[in-house]
Parts: sequence; structure tokens; C-alpha cells
Amino acid sequence: MKISVGCDHGGLEHKDAIVAHLKERGFEVKDNGIYENHSVDYPDIALLVCDDIVSGECERGILVCGTGIGMSLAANKVKGIRAAACSEHFSAKYTRLHNDSNVLCLGGRVIGVGTALEMVDLFVDTEFEGGRHANRVNKVMVIEER
Ligand code: RB5
Repeated sequence: MKISVGCDHGGLEHKDAIVAHLKERGFEVKDNGIYENHSVDYPDIALLVCDDIVSGECERGILVCGTGIGMSLAANKVKGIRAAACSEHFSAKYTRLHNDSNVLCLGGRVIGVGTALEMVDLFVDTEFEGGRHANRVNKVMVIEER
């Protein structure tokens, strides 16, 4: 699985740790920056990661900003993206099981790096349950056509 990762200045430490962790686990990772601590606009980075998903280059994305919320707002504007802002393990797992989320958004000012890495593991290791949830996810995606 190839995973696209990005952050703004609120999530650099977490993003770097996530990239290193995923590579250590053997995943192919596309690091969309930022690479050093300077102020950027989170929608610009969210778009880079979402484009990687929509184009098919990467299967899943991980975005980190201060809260995870700005990144998720921006990402969910992109057709084909189901982004979930999560700050604990249960949501990181169930957004895969029930929502088939393809982007995980984390808050660098909300959770520690250790928690973030555990949530990333749950997100990349958990498969969509399908079944009754598939119909619900389809209904969500149909909203994009309105
Ligand atoms: C940047 O200061 C901060 O607003 C951003 O990282 C994010 O938390 C927005 O939702």
C-alpha cells in the first residue's frame, strides 16, 4: 500500500514521525511536506494529498494540522475523499470499518506522537467491513453529485 502524507506547521513533528514509522513498517510513503517549520495554509497541503488518492497513486492519506479539523474540512471538499478527523483509537479504527475513510486527519496540538502512530497503524491495518455500511457510504458519495 502506498500512503500519501502531509502537514502544516501545526503537525510537522507528528508528520515526520508518521513518515518514518510507515517506512519502517515497509509501506511506500509519499511525503508532501512541509519539510521544515514555516507557516503554510492547510488547504494547499490537503489538496496535494487528496490528489494522490483521487489519481490512484496512493491508496490512503494522512494529514496533520493543529487540530486535524482544517485538514478534514478541506479534504472532504475533494470529490472521492472521505476524510476523518480523529483524536482517539476507536474512531481511527471504526472510520475504516464503517466509513471506508481514505484520509485520516490528526491534530498535532491535540494528541501526542505515540498516540498518533498507534492511530495510524489502526487506520492502515483495518479493512472496510462492507455489508450494510457499503450502502451508507454510497449514500454519502451520492451527495457529491448534488
Ligand atoms: C494553524 O495555526 C492551525 O489553524 C491549523 O494547523 C489547523 O489547526 C486548522 O484547522
